[in-house]
Amino acid sequence: MVGVATTERFVKDCAMVMQALTSGPMTNGEISVSTGLSPQRIGTLTVSMADRGQIRSLRCVLNKKRILVNLWSLPEAKGDEREDAHRNSETDLRAIRREYSNVALRSVNLSENPVSQFECWFNDAIRAECRDVTAAALATASAEGQPSVRYVLIKHFSDRGYCWYTDSNSQKGVELAINPQAALCFYWPETERQVRISGRVERVEEDLSERYFKERPMACRISALASEQSQPIACRAELENRVLALSARFQDGDVPRKESWGGYRLVPNYFEFWQGRQDRLHDRFMYRKNGEVWTSQRLMP
Ligand SMILES: Cc1cc2nc3c(=O)[nH]c(=O)nc-3n(C[C@H](O)[C@H](O)[C@H](O)COP(=O)(O)O)c2cc1C
Repeated sequence: MVGVATTERFVKDCAMVMQALTSGPMTNGEISVSTGLSPQRIGTLTVSMADRGQIRSLRCVLNKKRILVNLWSLPEAKGDEREDAHRNSETDLRAIRREYSNVALRSVNLSENPVSQFECWFNDAIRAECRDVTAAALATASAEGQPSVRYVLIKHFSDRGYCWYTDSNSQKGVELAINPQAALCFYWPETERQVRISGRVERVEEDLSERYFKERPMACRISALASEQSQPIACRAELENRVLALSARFQDGDVPRKESWGGYRLVPNYFEFWQGRQDRLHDRFMYRKNGEVWTSQRLMP
């Protein structure tokens, strides 16, 4: 589906049109969808049949905005048959689509140091009030090369690297002990930017882990102690009982940090900065470290 979707609400409306089309008659006219109790008129619809049975495109006016919707191979079957076909098929997310329109990223505006460039974008993301601005997807790989990815919260960064805290007995901890090569990926939707960072991971100094652990709220310190991260547990009650027992034991608030809980630092040798642009003609620049020197290069989108 190709649309001039500018707002999230608009994209949702387009998705509703798709839904209405796949379960109702495909005719020209007004289009209503049920959102809750009462049917709601969401726009005027003009269907153009380019190919009988296979509607290729339709013109649609929604909330006074024009869009062109391309539909690929809607099922030909009618009524129940079509609904069954729809239910059994994969969930089609092609209708969810938006344009990226942010400012250009040019080599002349790039900092020579990727960490400074990161800091600049990070501050922009804070100004844009991105939620979970410190969250990054962390990719590790098992000894067999099977990748796994999960989010972590980056707690500090500098030229030395990007740090997060976790349990070294967790899946990521075990994988990093075998293969310290890893990657982080930040995505800030509000600024339409992605930053990829990869390199080698090391444990942060014990005193740093200790200091950060002590800064955490009491309940979080108890939780870290109670949870053997990534290990199976029979039920939530068992976990909550552990928390109760530990809370009673450490009423004074002096919760000890277990040896396995601590910080990791990814020391980067590669960065990539991605800026969303119109028509998928995005800007990308990568930085690679050769010795102590960073070199950058534009990449095709
Ligand atoms: C936004 C977000 C931030 C997270 N931050 C952390 C974190 O800083 N440290 C951590 O151990 N887990 C964090 N988690 C949970 C991890 O994604 C993951 O579930 C957990 O660390 C176990 O991963 P593993 O079994 O692959 O080791 C976070 C999850 C989300 C959604």
